[in-house]
Amino acid sequence: MSRNTVYLNGEWLPLAEARVSVLDRGFMLGDGVYELIPVYQRRAFRLDAHLARLQHSLDGIRLANPLSNAQWREVIGQVVAAHEADDQSVYLQVTRGAAPRDHAFPADTPPTVLVMSSPMSRPEPAQFEHGVRAVSTDDIRWRRCDLKTLNLLPNVLAKQQAVDAGCVECIMFRDGVLSEGAVSNIFAVKNGVILAPVKDQRVLPGITYDLVLELAQAHGLAYEVRDIREAEVRDADELWLTSSSREVQAIVELDGRPVGSGKPGPLYRRLHALYQDFKARLS
Ligand SMILES: Cc1ncc(COP(=O)(O)O)c(C=O)c1O
Repeated sequence: MSRNTVYLNGEWLPLAEARVSVLDRGFMLGDGVYELIPVYQRRAFRLDAHLARLQHSLDGIRLANPLSNAQWREVIGQVVAAHEADDQSVYLQVTRGAAPRDHAFPADTPPTVLVMSSPMSRPEPAQFEHGVRAVSTDDIRWRRCDLKTLNLLPNVLAKQQAVDAGCVECIMFRDGVLSEGAVSNIFAVKNGVILAPVKDQRVLPGITYDLVLELAQAHGLAYEVRDIREAEVRDADELWLTSSSREVQAIVELDGRPVGSGKPGPLYRRLHALYQDFKARLS
């Protein structure tokens, strides 16, 4: 198999040759779901959790899972093996297939299944060391943010708001309560306690979010899972963002004001070290 081979509906193709119909419901209606899985040293990180979340997203949009977990593992393994980089980001997407445009589900239409990979783009080391800046906005998304669907326009606009301000993330509040970032989950720290938003339909159930709480639990760090009011976020000692591609990063400035001391805090440093240690032990 050649480099940069993608899996599309049972076929293996070079990326440049992979094509889907303009009638694909992913393209026309955003009718599909996706996952992004980090691969370290050619090993997919927390694959079981990603496949479980994929199933949750598919169930949420009433689309049958086209592959068994064993088949997903096989396909992802082959995509990773075909790629030249050791550290990669595997992207997979399932849509409700190509059919004449109509909102209602089409009958007898096979789903479109894509798996591809790209070299992992790691954040700058300076970002782990010195932290990153964020802005904030109102969370204008729908009420099933727990599903990882292709409907990312509010996230796209929020992320661009961050980029326009020279920041890496945009934190969203719904009815005065922290939900998450445009592309990450958000944690706060106050008086030595890690505060995590409730993992319900207001946020994506982050794989990294779970790992952060697992590490906190395993190492006796105090944490609370509860609604976090906007005022608490603005008054936090530390803020972190977490995602598969950014791992854990300290947010040191929000809307132009310093978070806590304006430097990555002690609990961030602890969690970052625990996270790196966890990754190193797996590979
Ligand atoms: C909106 C949103 N929330 C949270 C996350 C973090 O999820 P994970 O840790 O599984 O990457 C992402 C990741 O892309 C995201 O897009």
